[in-house]
Amino acid sequence: MTDDSKSTYPLDMPEPNDPPQPVTETPLPVSESPQPVAAEPRRNFLSKALAVVIGGIVTLVPFAAGLAVFTDPLRTRKKGSGNGDDDGFIKVATFDELPVGDPPQRFQVIDDRVDAWNMFPNESVGTVYLSRATEDEVLALNVTCPHVGCPVDYDTARHVFQCPCHNSSFKPTGEIDNEDSPAARGMDALEIKIKNKNEVWVKYQEFRPGTAEKIAEA
Ligand code: FES
Repeated sequence: MTDDSKSTYPLDMPEPNDPPQPVTETPLPVSESPQPVAAEPRRNFLSKALAVVIGGIVTLVPFAAGLAVFTDPLRTRKKGSGNGDDDGFIKVATFDELPVGDPPQRFQVIDDRVDAWNMFPNESVGTVYLSRATEDEVLALNVTCPHVGCPVDYDTARHVFQCPCHNSSFKPTGEIDNEDSPAARGMDALEIKIKNKNEVWVKYQEFRPGTAEKIAEA
């Protein structure tokens, strides 16, 4: 036999016709002590960043100071600060060394020589021929042949400039001496100044070889 009055629901479950039971909420456990904040990694990051910045400054400051010293002569070199005046003229000779009517004489042009990184004070930066036709008349010629750049000699017996490379010849005044000269122009005359009544100052320049036109090199 079966007992029909017996419920099929478990004892702790409400039966379908039971009134709704109030729901009791179980509070979640609350921690008694405050949770730790993740501050330590951030502090480490800032310390490392600060160390990198300080390390960079310590490295770069001496490097910059060394670079400034290394390039100082080039940075501070001003126009005319070598042997030249403000217009680029350099003292080359005096009248005492240039008797009137003498053959052209070679003189070195002494100035500071500068390349991309270095300055060499008081070196020869070029060579010129000087001659003095009258008391106040001085002629300066660049010794470089305008054909392809060999240094030109002066032949005192023939009274001409003679280039040893391809046989160009020039008059004492610098013009082309014969039609067979391969040079396309005469020797390059240079600007001069007379200072203190007997000093010959020359503006030394180099010019492009191989052209009929006289073109100053940069
Ligand atoms: S370099 Fe002088 S003649 Fe050629």
